[in-house]
Amino acid sequence: MHISSLLSDEHVGSLVKTRGWVYRWRESGPLVFIIVRDSTNIIQAIVERGKLSDDDFETAKKLTIESSIELEGNLVKEKKAPTGYEIHVSKLTAFNIAEKFPITKDKSDEFLLDIRHLWLRSREMTATLKIRETIFETSREYFKEKGYHEVHTPMFVGAAVEGGSTLFEVPYFGEKAYLTQSSQFYLEAFIYSLEKVYTISPSFRAEKSRTRRHLTEFSHLEAESAWMSNQEMMTFEEEMIVRIASDLLDKRKDELSILKRDPEKLKNIETPFYRYTYEKIIDLGRSKGMDLPDIVDLGEKEEREITEGFDKPLFVYNFPTSLKPFYHRPDPDDPAHVLCHDMLAPEGYGEIIGGGERIWNKDELLRRISENGLNTDDYGWYIDLRRFGSVPHSGFGLGMDRVLTWIAGLEHIKNAVPFPRTIRRLRP
Ligand code: 4AD
Ligand code: MG
Repeated sequence: MHISSLLSDEHVGSLVKTRGWVYRWRESGPLVFIIVRDSTNIIQAIVERGKLSDDDFETAKKLTIESSIELEGNLVKEKKAPTGYEIHVSKLTAFNIAEKFPITKDKSDEFLLDIRHLWLRSREMTATLKIRETIFETSREYFKEKGYHEVHTPMFVGAAVEGGSTLFEVPYFGEKAYLTQSSQFYLEAFIYSLEKVYTISPSFRAEKSRTRRHLTEFSHLEAESAWMSNQEMMTFEEEMIVRIASDLLDKRKDELSILKRDPEKLKNIETPFYRYTYEKIIDLGRSKGMDLPDIVDLGEKEEREITEGFDKPLFVYNFPTSLKPFYHRPDPDDPAHVLCHDMLAPEGYGEIIGGGERIWNKDELLRRISENGLNTDDYGWYIDLRRFGSVPHSGFGLGMDRVLTWIAGLEHIKNAVPFPRTIRRLRP
């Protein structure tokens, strides 16, 4: 039985069987104390000479941290045990006596990244992975309820979406291909049949920046919807984030507490989120003493300073046209700005979502492609979408690893991903 199902009065006094890995081990005269862990929880087990075969007792004495075992015994309620119950062992089998486990207390972050394949077993990582899973689950549920179809897009692509500076180039049978930076353009192709679509796939960025929020490969949740405006999309997104936070409070209380995340921070996440125009956010930054020109790309540092005192996310909308990629739709009443938004997480975490309305008029798109110094030939099929029944539409991209970093209160995005990829890390 899994450990979590053993932790109840129902089984006290009966013979139970469980298996897992040695989490703690200590010997004291005729007794061996083992704390066993499995995917669900931990439980203490007491092995006493004479209460099981001599062979089994010898096995208990040989156990090391991370050895894999199966044990059988009587379940007893015990206040002093770490999870309130313990097993008095009558039978013990070891599958593997582990070699000396390299992870001990006070190892450096770099070392823990080098042995990430083993660090995955830590309570922190296990809790993080479960929270991560719930965020994915809730997002999918939310999209389904709202009538979105899940679709799949290619990762090998022929052209840039988010500008050339972060493109990964790969040889492709004598041609140049790139790893996709975003599935957005492909999602736009689906709206003419499915209307509302989303995908969760990896996106790749040759990020040279070493910040606490950049990966070279990240999990990207992207959506696209026909007929939706920039402001409507913002409302859709804030509801989704609130839903993620409240589901975590329902389903992942224990995991949040293992990570020492204060649940109050999640309770603050309520609609409506603050909405500031780009100019208003520059004013806000200046009122905090930041030295900002009128038009500046907000980076990690600026967003940290701006969002530090906030208790829930905020939107910055309608950025200056010059700051954003060519596909954003200029405001017809104010073409110096595009109808787009970023969602910034509070507590200094910064951007977690980028989205907005797309140019849906063919001539306007052609003009913006050339104004950006790009070649229309590279975007042939994307332009085509504006030739056959084009419609107003909006979409967004959300960095799942960034949302997890913020929601779980992690220090670095690397802690949110089982096998992080950064400029300096490709292994394990
Ligand atoms: O703001 P970005 O670059 O927007 C796009 O890619 C749009 N095409 C998305 C769309 O509208 N479909 O990226 C979207 C989000 C960011 O807000 C951020 O959360 C995440 O993707 N992101 C990264 N996460 C981790 N590491 C990186 N290097 C990231 N770059 C972007
Ligand atoms: Mg962005």
